[in-house]
Amino acid sequence: MHLDGWDVLLWLHLLAMAVFVGGQLVFGLALAPVYVKQGGSEGSAHEWMQPIARRFGWASLGALVVLLATGASMASHLDLWSSTALDVKLGLVAVAIVLTCIHVFVVHGSNRLLQALILVDSLAIVLVATTL
Ligand code: HEM
Repeated sequence: MHLDGWDVLLWLHLLAMAVFVGGQLVFGLALAPVYVKQGGSEGSAHEWMQPIARRFGWASLGALVVLLATGASMASHLDLWSSTALDVKLGLVAVAIVLTCIHVFVVHGSNRLLQALILVDSLAIVLVATTL
């Protein structure tokens, strides 16, 4: 087995992807349904959901910074800047960053449509990434 710096960079890229995309899946499949069942923002669930959501918001923004930095390095190393797949992927990433910032800094809370759009966009990024 031979492990070099580029393997470590891809590993960091995949870990950041796991935080960003995996975290959204945990919210969608586990946390949000229980939150709604316990009354949502009107109920006591708001007390545990707000700190969890805020922490995940910052973790997501951190993960996006890591994805941008590691991704750009790998794209240069693999000479992928002229690839259509990377163009499509970066377009989807731009949408994810704008929607995530609106979710964290503008609506400050549970907007189901926005959350669904960020998740669908994130899953599309991963799908396109497999063609790189
Ligand atoms: C939300 C943002 C992102 C997600 C979820 C994501 C996800 C992924 C995934 C899952 C892979 C592995 C694909 C595979 O091995 O089949 C990958 C690889 C890659 N990503 Fe990203 N990525 C993101 C952002 C970026 C950005 C912003 C760039 C470039 C500026 C980028 C450039 C790359 C490159 C070049 C590879 C190929 C690495 C290789 O084949 O060794 N990614 N990405």
